[in-house]
Amino acid sequence: MKKIIITIDGWSSCGKSTLAKQLAKSLGYVYIDSGAMYRAITLYFLRNHINWLDTVQVNDALAHITLTFKFNNKTQQSEIYLNEENVEYVIRDLVIAEKVSDVAAIKEVRTFAVAQQQKMGEEKGIVMDGRDIGTTVFPDAELKFFMTADIAVRVERRYLEMLAKNPNISIDDVKANLEMRDYIDSNREVSPLRKAPDAIELDNTALSIAEQLEIAVGFVKGKIY
Ligand code: DC
Repeated sequence: MKKIIITIDGWSSCGKSTLAKQLAKSLGYVYIDSGAMYRAITLYFLRNHINWLDTVQVNDALAHITLTFKFNNKTQQSEIYLNEENVEYVIRDLVIAEKVSDVAAIKEVRTFAVAQQQKMGEEKGIVMDGRDIGTTVFPDAELKFFMTADIAVRVERRYLEMLAKNPNISIDDVKANLEMRDYIDSNREVSPLRKAPDAIELDNTALSIAEQLEIAVGFVKGKIY
């Protein structure tokens, strides 16, 4: 069967990774969470007190960063490693969420991450989610989705997800963070969040996870069978 590249872009917390993981599993494809790469870089910058407005410091820091994804048989998902340390869970913290859009807007950071993402897609058979995957990373991908959902629904979903890990989190903090990231991600100079002209828009405000998957699989069938 023909292998393709599937890209899933969209706003923060609109279910991109849920759909991407399910599609990858059902097709036997590799799932890559590109946002995890920007989060891991942000973690490194914060831990090492890197001033990301200083290009020399940024380039020097990037030279010390190795990012890899390894499949965890227990959790049945691929997890990100920063210089051999599993950071899959620590990068989901609000401390990282508050800074990641600023770090992801830096040209050198994007060049670094995009080159690695493109390498991961060389063999195809990949589902990658993010903000610029269908526009910049894989502009020639065979199948592109652009996901949206109402802000209230997105806030509720992310709040419940974060509440499980942090009982002190407030819904207002989550809302403020989502709105801020959407703004920065779609207004930055380099590779802003945009719907690729050939992407299929999927609004999942009123869709269940199963319904969303069914719709997406319908489009996949049209491409690979
Ligand atoms: O998907 P996520 O919420 O884990 O992404 C975290 C941040 O990383 C997001 O606010 C913007 C940035 N990002 C990006 O700029 N480009 C991508 N391809 C993926 C994420």
